Amino acid sequence: MNVKLAPKSGFCFGVKRAVDEAIEASNSFNKRIYTLGPLIHNNSVVNYLIENDIHPIELKDINELNTGDVIIIRSHGVPKAVIEELDNKKFNIINATCPFVSNIHKIVNKYYNLGYGIVIVGDSNHPEVIGINGWCENNAIISSGGENLDSIPKKICIVAQTTEKKESWEKVLNIVTKKAEEVISFNTICTATAERQRQADELSKQVDVMVVIGGRQSSNTTKLYEICKRNCKNTIYVENSGEIPEEIINSKKIKKIGVTAGASTPDWIIKEAILKMSDEKNLEMNEQLAYMEEYDKRVAVGDVVKGTIITINEKQAFLNIGYKADGLLPLEEVSKDPSVNLNDLYKVSDEINVKVISRRNEDGYVVLSKIEIERQEAYEALKQAFENKSLVEVEVREVVKGGVLAFYKNVRIFIPASHLELYHIEDLNKFVGENLEVSIIEYNQIKRTTKIVGSRRSILKVEQKKVQDSTWEKLEEGQIVKGEVRRLTDFGAFLNIDGVDGLLHVSEISWGRVSKPADVLKINDIVEVCVLTVDKEKRKLSLSLKKLVENPWENVETKYPIESVVLGKVVRFCDFGVFIELEPGVDALAHISQISHKRINKPSEVLEIGEMVKAKILDVNKETKKIGLSIKEVNEI
Ligand code: F3S
Repeated sequence: MNVKLAPKSGFCFGVKRAVDEAIEASNSFNKRIYTLGPLIHNNSVVNYLIENDIHPIELKDINELNTGDVIIIRSHGVPKAVIEELDNKKFNIINATCPFVSNIHKIVNKYYNLGYGIVIVGDSNHPEVIGINGWCENNAIISSGGENLDSIPKKICIVAQTTEKKESWEKVLNIVTKKAEEVISFNTICTATAERQRQADELSKQVDVMVVIGGRQSSNTTKLYEICKRNCKNTIYVENSGEIPEEIINSKKIKKIGVTAGASTPDWIIKEAILKMSDEKNLEMNEQLAYMEEYDKRVAVGDVVKGTIITINEKQAFLNIGYKADGLLPLEEVSKDPSVNLNDLYKVSDEINVKVISRRNEDGYVVLSKIEIERQEAYEALKQAFENKSLVEVEVREVVKGGVLAFYKNVRIFIPASHLELYHIEDLNKFVGENLEVSIIEYNQIKRTTKIVGSRRSILKVEQKKVQDSTWEKLEEGQIVKGEVRRLTDFGAFLNIDGVDGLLHVSEISWGRVSKPADVLKINDIVEVCVLTVDKEKRKLSLSLKKLVENPWENVETKYPIESVVLGKVVRFCDFGVFIELEPGVDALAHISQISHKRINKPSEVLEIGEMVKAKILDVNKETKKIGLSIKEVNEI
């Protein structure tokens, strides 16, 4: 006989997490562990746990425990007051409340404190609902089919028991929406439950007999049974394989049996039941079992999976990824910008591709990433750019040793300082925040890291050549142009004139004496210069600054008539006299015999460098650029 198992059957991740935590606690504490009530609604599992020294205890009996004893809160969760009580008694609490249920606690607590009336769609006797009610001081209105809703507050926050049927939720929500003035609704029905119910519904329409496996007190198993019974009148409810009637196992008429199991039914019970009913008794490779095992392994780190958003808030989205545990997509795996709101990017029911980065976090979720998919695509694009020598646009974010770090869709690219500009840049911070076009000059995968190096040099060189060609076209001798000082040497300064470098020789800076260009010019100074010579063939350009100023020897005879008295600065001594600067570029000589009325051996005996002295003009020769002076004629020295 053919046995078909509904793919979503057995332990949901919330229950699996609770059982795993209990066993882990038993191993690590090495003493008796307690669970507040039976950990799950399945006698076989409860017995298995007892064999492992994990015992259920009721709240009324906790006074029998001692300080430091370990007590596990089961996946259904408990009222807030119970946690406080356990805390006060200083027990070692392991809170295995299913994260979906914890989420409901948070919602209820928040909106209750904001003044909303709370409606829980569910069974008032179920421990999960009792727990939820304990987060709004037990003031919730509880309804599973529309009862208790005659008078409700104006502002309502409505949530559902995680195992509630969709129809009940819709019915109660419908009534509440009509009666209240403001309704905030959170459909907190767990998708694990909804999906189980949907698959059980489908399968039960296709089979001769439907076997529903689960504990008698398990509400979600009871709901599965009710759904299957509607479609297949031969639906049976069993706790384990031992309860499957022999007439079913031995029947020749039954061709197809469907199996589903509640969220608290462990795999081993499902396997036993399938083995018992299947034609192949030694069925290590039974298709269904293989599927179950396969099902457990199907998600691996690095897999790209398609998921449907089940719930979403600003900071995280939960996705159904077709695996027994749902996926968690945190904001930081979507965007590095903490101000982004996930609700602005996605909504419930959106299908998105995501990458698995952890098979199970501490809450039992598969952790997913969108950024990692984008990163993978970005690596691919960068590799292509490297191979095809194409350009990519990157954003510079940080200055590091020897260059900057730029990012292409969250992939780091190092750009060496020498590849950022064609000339030396003192402060690389000016690039931070800029978007630059770069070529990829290195793409190297070494083990698990990929080294990517970018460069602007080749791009800048092409641009530079274009600009230079056009500048050389325009340059003419005698032109007055603007240039930026880029480099200073002892023999001159190099200026950039529209992309072309020209030399301003030290002798061309001033008519006066300049011992080195740095005394007059600074890097980045913008100065007007005259084009002295242009060699377009050899691409050589010489410049002059002093040409823009009148030659001071030009009308020296008019400016300094013989016999006139001038004031000048002592600038240089020599054996035969002293040079006096009359103006920049015009130095005159006072012979040693013309310095003092006294006999002196050297000028420094009576004069100092930098001193201003009066002198009489004795002679002027414009051609030889010589002016003779007498100091003693106008001074008493
Ligand atoms: Fe949690 Fe859903 Fe299971 S609420 S305990 S994962 S059925």
